[in-house]
Order: sequence, then structure tokens, then C-alpha cells
Amino acid sequence: MRLMVTGGAGFIGSNFIKYILREHPDYSILNFDKLTYAGNLDNLSDIEDNPNYEFIQGDIADLKGVKEAVGSGVDAIVNFAAESHVDRSLDNPSVFIITNVLGTQVLLDAASEFNVQRFVQVSTDEVYGSLGSEGFFRETTPLDPNSPYSASKASADLLAISYYRSFKMPVVITRCSNNYGPYQFPEKLIPLFITNAMDDKPLPVYGDGKYIRDWIHVEDHCRAVDLVMHKGQPGEVYNVGGESERENLWITDFILDYFEKPQSLITHVKDRPGHDRRYAIDCSKIKNDLGYELKIDLETGLKETIDWYKNNRQWWEKIRSGEYLKYYEKHYLQREKI
Ligand code: NAD
Ligand code: DAU
Repeated sequence: MRLMVTGGAGFIGSNFIKYILREHPDYSILNFDKLTYAGNLDNLSDIEDNPNYEFIQGDIADLKGVKEAVGSGVDAIVNFAAESHVDRSLDNPSVFIITNVLGTQVLLDAASEFNVQRFVQVSTDEVYGSLGSEGFFRETTPLDPNSPYSASKASADLLAISYYRSFKMPVVITRCSNNYGPYQFPEKLIPLFITNAMDDKPLPVYGDGKYIRDWIHVEDHCRAVDLVMHKGQPGEVYNVGGESERENLWITDFILDYFEKPQSLITHVKDRPGHDRRYAIDCSKIKNDLGYELKIDLETGLKETIDWYKNNRQWWEKIRSGEYLKYYEKHYLQREKI
């Protein structure tokens, strides 16, 4: 089997490539990634010489480049490529529409033209919007996105489903909750707070910090995508969640306690506009229909993740010294405290 993985130099994509090479040593992988600020080939340095791995720098919104890659012969496409950070989508929505919507449609067209046997659209629970204190997102929950990021992902989902319904493209969609683990870009809550705590920098908690996310280890997500790719029913959506709902302040305290750092590092800053209050996933469909099981509990996974950032300072310091610094200054050093 030859897989084309888009966005394979990002956080989840790079973990997925390593997962597949380990679990299916006879598969070969074509990693197609534009290498935006979030794409980092350092994430793959341990497998770059694997004869079953190949990298092409390319943009999923560029039809010519995509057709060349897909036309080289791929059995399945797993589409991780996206602009993925909600805060950035509030600053500059257009690139989210180009990559997440147009890019997905270009990939779907190429997949259709070259008769690709499987198309996995890696989506997010954010397409469902926000929950109150009760209830869960199910696959039947109406789409109700609140940010340009989630609206672009919801649009991509609708396009993917339309290619199944109109052209019988064997599309499957996963909608996963918040991932954490090694190689996550340090603009997202967990890696940002771990690396700031290590350096005694403030931990910028948005608003009251009582926002709830359902955390899943990236390895558990990769296993779900692998399962859906092999066993999911065409045209179906599968929710994936960690069954570990926590307030942001719980995560913050966990990190501070781990390093024995003071609560005074917590800084409440101006809230994210349109901030979704709570996400919670009902993942009984993937469990009942495909036999999915979660393997990594949150506290064990978080400790391992913190240790990874402790032991890989070079990895994140290199990122922090680049373009990310400008973003960090704009978002945090100039952000109002409350
Ligand atoms: P990421 O930002 O770490 O990585 C995105 C990757 O996509 C980068 O390597 C980047 O270079 C590449 N990319 C961006 N635009 C591209 C383009 N036009 N063409 C080709 N490559 C491009 O993101 P992530 O956190 O690894 O998320 C991967 C996917 O999983 C996304 O589709 C995201 O919506 C989805 N998802 C993420 C989470 C999460 O918690 N991180 C949860 C659920 C779903
Ligand atoms: O739910 C899945 C989604 O999870 C994915 O689709 C997105 O790609 C991914 O980025 C993530 O989105 P969130 O917006 O939930 O993740 P983020 O890490 O940006 O924020 C998590 C929570 O922490 C959210 O309530 C906002 C808050 N937060 C975040 C940052 C970066 C803070 O309080 N301070 C911060 O500095």
C-alpha cells in the first residue's frame, strides 16, 4: 500500500507517519507538505532515510503539483494538511480558506481523477461548535462552527461528503478532540505552557480558564485514523475523543505542579473572541463499529509529554528563535492582562 500523507511535517502528521512505518512496515509513504511555519522536517529526522519514506514539498491548493504527486500512484490519501491554529484564523482567515477548503477540494479532485481507493479527511470536533455544561458531540450533531478555522474545516467536511455522494469517492472523515504529545508546535496550550513554565515565563490563561477540552494523546488519534482508513465505511464520519475532559486551569496546575513552579506564573489575559466553552466527544460509534480502544490515560500521557519537552529543548528552542517569535510578541507580550 502506498499512502500519500499531506501535512506530514506537522504535529499529528509526523506522528502518524512514524506510527504507520512502525505498524505497517510493508507500506510506503509519500509525505506531501508545504512546510509552512508549522511544518518541520526535524520532526521526521529519525525516519528520513527509511526506504519506504519519501518527501515532496508541495501545496495542496496547487492542482498541478497535487496531480503530479497523486498521479505517481497512491492507494490512499490521508489529509492532515491544514492551517490549524484558531488564534491565527482570527488574524488572517484567508489562508485558512485557501488551504483548508480549496486545498481539500483540489485533493479530492485529484483523488477522483486517479481513482484513489481511500480518502481520509482528518477533521476536528470544533466543527460542532460549543457545548454547555451537559451533553456530547455525536456524529449527528449539526455543524455549528464559531471560528474561521472551524468554519473552514466544516466546509472541507461538507465537500468531502459531497464527493462521496456525487462521485462515489470512498471518503471517510474523522473528527477528533484536542491532541497533545511530542512535536506539537509551541503555540498550542500544552506545549506553550510546558515550555513557558520551564523558563519561568508567564502562562497566559485566556479569560477565566474554565474552558473545557477533551484531551487525547496523539498516538491514540493516529491509531484511530489508521483504523478508520482500513475499516471505516465510505461516506461515514467517526468521532474520536480522549474521554478526558478538563478545564484549562486543571492542565495549567498539572504543569506547574510537575515543575514545582508557583501559581504566580498564571496570568489571566484577554479572552479569545468567540471562544468555545466546552468540547466533549461521544466516540461510541468508532468503538462499537470498528473496535477502537483508547490506550493512554491523560495523566500518564501528560507526564510523558512534559518529559519529552524537557529532554528535547533543542527542538523547541530552534522553533522559538524563528518566525514564531514575532507571533508570540504580538499575541502575548502586547495582549491585555485582566
Ligand atoms: P499542524 O499545524 O501542526 O501541521 C499542519 C501541517 O500542514 C504542517 O506541516 C504544514 O506545513 C502543513 N500545511 C499547511 N498548509 C499546507 C498546504 N497548503 N499544503 C500542504 N501542507 C500544508 O497541525 P496538526 O495539529 O498536526 O493538525 C493536523 C490536522 O489534524 C489538521 O487538519 C487539523 O485540523 C486536524 N486536527 C488537529 C487536532 C489538534 O488537536 N491538533 C485535533 C483534531 C484535528
Ligand atoms: O478540538 C480540536 C482542536 O484543538 C483542533 O482542531 C485545533 O487544530 C487545535 O489547535 C485545538 O484547538 P484549541 O483552540 O482547542 O487549542 P489551543 O491549544 O489553541 O487552546 C486550548 C484551550 O486553551 C482553549 O480553550 C484556549 C486556551 N488557551 C490557549 C492558548 C494557546 C489559553 O488559555 N491560553 C493560550 O495561550
